[in-house]
Amino acid sequence: MRLDDSPIHQELKAHALEIQNKPMREMFRDDSKRFEHFSVQGPHIFLDYSKNLINKSTLKLLKNAAENAQLKKQIQALFSGGAFEGRLLNHTENRSVLHTALRQPLDSCLMLNGQDIMKEVKLCREKMADFLGKIHDGQVLGYTGKPIRTLVSIGIGGSFLGPKVVTEALKPYAQEGYQCHYLANIDGTDFAQILEKIDPETTLFLLQSKSFSTLETLENAKEVKKWLLCHGVNQSQISQHFIAVTANNSAAIEFGIDEAHIFPMWDWVGGRYSLWSAIGLPIAFLLGMKNFDALLGGAHEMDQHFLNTDFDQNLPVIMAFLGVWYQTYLGADSHAILPYDQYLQYFPDHLQQLDMESNGKHVDRDGKNLSYHSGPVIWGGIGCNGQHAYHQLLHQGTRLIPSDFIIPLQSHHDIGNHHKHLFANCLSQSQALMQGKTYEEALAELLSAGTSSQNAELLAPHKVIEGNRPSNTLILDKTTPASVGALIALYEHKVFVQSALWNINAFDQWGVELGKHLSSDLYKALESNDSKYSFDSSTEGLLNKFKHVDDQKF
Ligand code: F6P
Repeated sequence: MRLDDSPIHQELKAHALEIQNKPMREMFRDDSKRFEHFSVQGPHIFLDYSKNLINKSTLKLLKNAAENAQLKKQIQALFSGGAFEGRLLNHTENRSVLHTALRQPLDSCLMLNGQDIMKEVKLCREKMADFLGKIHDGQVLGYTGKPIRTLVSIGIGGSFLGPKVVTEALKPYAQEGYQCHYLANIDGTDFAQILEKIDPETTLFLLQSKSFSTLETLENAKEVKKWLLCHGVNQSQISQHFIAVTANNSAAIEFGIDEAHIFPMWDWVGGRYSLWSAIGLPIAFLLGMKNFDALLGGAHEMDQHFLNTDFDQNLPVIMAFLGVWYQTYLGADSHAILPYDQYLQYFPDHLQQLDMESNGKHVDRDGKNLSYHSGPVIWGGIGCNGQHAYHQLLHQGTRLIPSDFIIPLQSHHDIGNHHKHLFANCLSQSQALMQGKTYEEALAELLSAGTSSQNAELLAPHKVIEGNRPSNTLILDKTTPASVGALIALYEHKVFVQSALWNINAFDQWGVELGKHLSSDLYKALESNDSKYSFDSSTEGLLNKFKHVDDQKF
């Protein structure tokens, strides 16, 4: 039954009115074991969700919403690639969803449409290992006979953000003497900045595109080809410097990629869920296959946890319940991702695509408009830097913004007392968000600091921190291949569970098509000599600005 048709929806709304102003300070005072009651250890990750506007009844009601959504059946469809209520999970593209198969043991079997897809996954993984083994043995040479040492991945969206977040997160595990860059944007600056850093003789370009039709990627690949030709590479040697990952073999071959250098993608892997496939080649190139396998292993452990653990001890389910609770019932609009780990600086970027391209939907699986808010705006950044930038709004703004703090117990770098300070700051932020500072406390503080009572009364309201601002704290043992794999898989499943409760398709992305279509019309207008078009006056005015750039007086 649709969420908003179910009695549970009204019960959750009523419960929200009851609990939303109950001070979390009182929740902790009334239950000395609240931390114990609202925290759980999963694979590589400990979740403290005690600093949330919830009690046991909240979780019970959300569990009822999950039962109403037949969550267990939806999870089974996710791991089997099968149907739910007679339709594939990605029913609007008529595709199964099976990115979890990519991190299953290679000797397992998974039948889809009469084929054991694990055979294809195994072949692809072996092809990756074989090719990268040759590179790491110095057997893959550039056009002047020097061994390849640099990989430039040309791709955008899921063909870029996933590999990037992992290679940045796991830099301490990088192979000596190898480097990896990402060319994503059609902004020439991206192209120019990368070419400044690389030597054409030792660089391999990896064209990453499931469709092999993404404008930014193809335009960049075209210009890279020209750049290579200008650097003495002849036409017959171009293919020595290109490999590709795609589901569109014919287009890759037409571009000039050797068929032997094309790695497969399957339609049951969505772009934003694809770093576990050959799209993860940059990861394996930089960190080695052993570490890529460890990343997959960590994700598989989280898969097993998600599949086999009761909802009240299940990390992705708990985080999804909280996400639905705040976005649909407590009026939040965004969700902050705050990694207190410099190596996870690109994690919010990856989650933006993972969450917002999956749950940024306004119709349900039947195409009917939702009557409630679905996916949040995902934003964030590393701590402690955020404390000196946007945490002011988190503490004293007018909005409810649930936050996820993510921090490893151990750092890769033993510098002075840095990690202890980082850890103390991370905990202090979630504590301040929860307990705040009352008017009385602010006034007393001012008076005890010697402020006159007149000034203290003027200043105190400006120093009040409302508190009651919810957060989760996720503790990793250390930022390792396994814990990063588990962390990304955790959020993939959180996003999926939210989509299940919201009754939306998390695996299509029709919203990006219009912009792509319009931009090709506008490009043609920019190319043409006409100055009269049939666009709105804003678009026409702006087009003419560009076309008459030489006449502009800046
Ligand atoms: O943004 C739309 C999108 O299709 C993403 O879902 C995808 O990750 C990205 O563009 C790149 O697509 P492709 O891998 O087909 O080039």
